[in-house]
Amino acid sequence: MSETFETLLLEKEGRVATITINRPDKRNALNIKTREEGAALLEQLRNDDSVGVVIFTGAGDKAFVAGADIAEFAGRTSITQREVMMGRSLFTAVDSFPKPVIAMINGYCLGGGCELALACDIRIASETAAFGQPEINLGIIPGGGGIKRLTRLVGEGKAMELILTGDIIDAKTAFSIGLVNHVVPADQLKTKTMEIASKIADKGPIALQLAKEAVKIASRSNLDEGLRREVDLFALCFSTEDKDEGVSAFLEKRKAAFKGK
Ligand code: COA
Repeated sequence: MSETFETLLLEKEGRVATITINRPDKRNALNIKTREEGAALLEQLRNDDSVGVVIFTGAGDKAFVAGADIAEFAGRTSITQREVMMGRSLFTAVDSFPKPVIAMINGYCLGGGCELALACDIRIASETAAFGQPEINLGIIPGGGGIKRLTRLVGEGKAMELILTGDIIDAKTAFSIGLVNHVVPADQLKTKTMEIASKIADKGPIALQLAKEAVKIASRSNLDEGLRREVDLFALCFSTEDKDEGVSAFLEKRKAAFKGK
């Protein structure tokens, strides 16, 4: 990578790139710099064919991300806040990123941190992680997808309780309401996340992109629209060399070597 980042670390292992939000003394709170750098780094990784899957995590053992940087809220007007939210959004960059994105949640996952995890495709948590949308305690409400994405993922009743109480829940409770896909002991978090990330990164990149797009359409559209788009994207796979390779490999009883073409 040519660019260096002040608030992020980037590590690559095989086809998996891990972005670590690196402000542990501030519990990895998202300030404007972090959001801008995150969106810029994703832009780089989008065009990097050597990367098939991206993982987001937090530095240290206390926090994934403890929310928006509250210090930046002080004295800010509603117009400025709206501009910040509608500018280069990290959450939108994650949500619209064409490759799979996994949240590896190693501690506090609160407010904007929970919103970052919600924008990711898969969430894997350590038993020591804790989740919540505590914005209500600051006299505000979630504004980075914490209302919409949380409600869609866990349902209105559970989302309402979390958002209205500002309560923090443990990882097992988060798992029980469908907020995270897996909960593992802290010392197995990286292994479990890499296992899932590597398995995904091994698949054909075009099929992955189309599958991600199809699932997102499925959860955002009505039945007829979703089914029609699913057929279109399925049929699109038939224009790829990867589809020929996948089918040939099965018939020849060998492992497919996908090229992303
Ligand atoms: N924004 C800015 N700074 C934050 C932060 C945030 N969201 N979360 C933590 N920090 C800072 C603290 O101010 C403190 O800084 P300091 O050392 O300069 O005083 C440092 O990180 C450590 O925080 P501390 O509260 O001492 O750590 P802890 O481990 O005891 O508690 C939390 C961790 C996450 C429970 C607690 O920091 C907290 O409640 N943070 C705010 C969470 C929140 O409301 N998020 C939603 C924001 S919209």
